[in-house]
Amino acid sequence: MTDQCTCGDAHTTSKVDLTPIEPVLERYADDPGGLIPVLQETQKLYGYLPKEALRAIAGVRCIPFSSVYGVATFYSQFHLRQRGDKVVRVCHGTACHVLGAPEVTRAVVEELGIKIGETTEDLAFTLESVACVGCCGLAPVMLVDGQTYGQLDIVEARRIAATLREEVAAERGAASSLANEGDPA
Ligand code: FES
Repeated sequence: MTDQCTCGDAHTTSKVDLTPIEPVLERYADDPGGLIPVLQETQKLYGYLPKEALRAIAGVRCIPFSSVYGVATFYSQFHLRQRGDKVVRVCHGTACHVLGAPEVTRAVVEELGIKIGETTEDLAFTLESVACVGCCGLAPVMLVDGQTYGQLDIVEARRIAATLREEVAAERGAASSLANEGDPA
């Protein structure tokens, strides 16, 4: 991709394929308030914000990389690292905390083999801690990709985490079978 910058900054060559964001960059090129939508659409395309994409955004919009990076790190909606296929969020609001979120978290941490804020090496899971998600009557609660699991205890938390593991393995197995079917013999 050729950055259309005239600011004189050196914009590095990327290992990430930036072709998918070219139409996005073009669409918002003349919109001075377009940085947030550009970041949102970029994240939608990659699942996170690769540094190379941030550099390209800075280059095309002719603003310092530090400004783009600053915005990307300011808002919690943006992620600078690759995330897992499934994002597990354990609520640590007051009600959930009092009713066992720390124990639930320990169970999930042990089952998935990652700590809060981490992603498994195989990019299957990301584990996060969140503040009250608004269903305190179900505390302690965890959310996985929009689905809510409530009234958890250690056993149930372990069971759910193990089921999620199986689901990811099955989904990946199905995806690789489909890919193999598509391969010419
Ligand atoms: S504290 Fe967890 S849902 Fe409110």
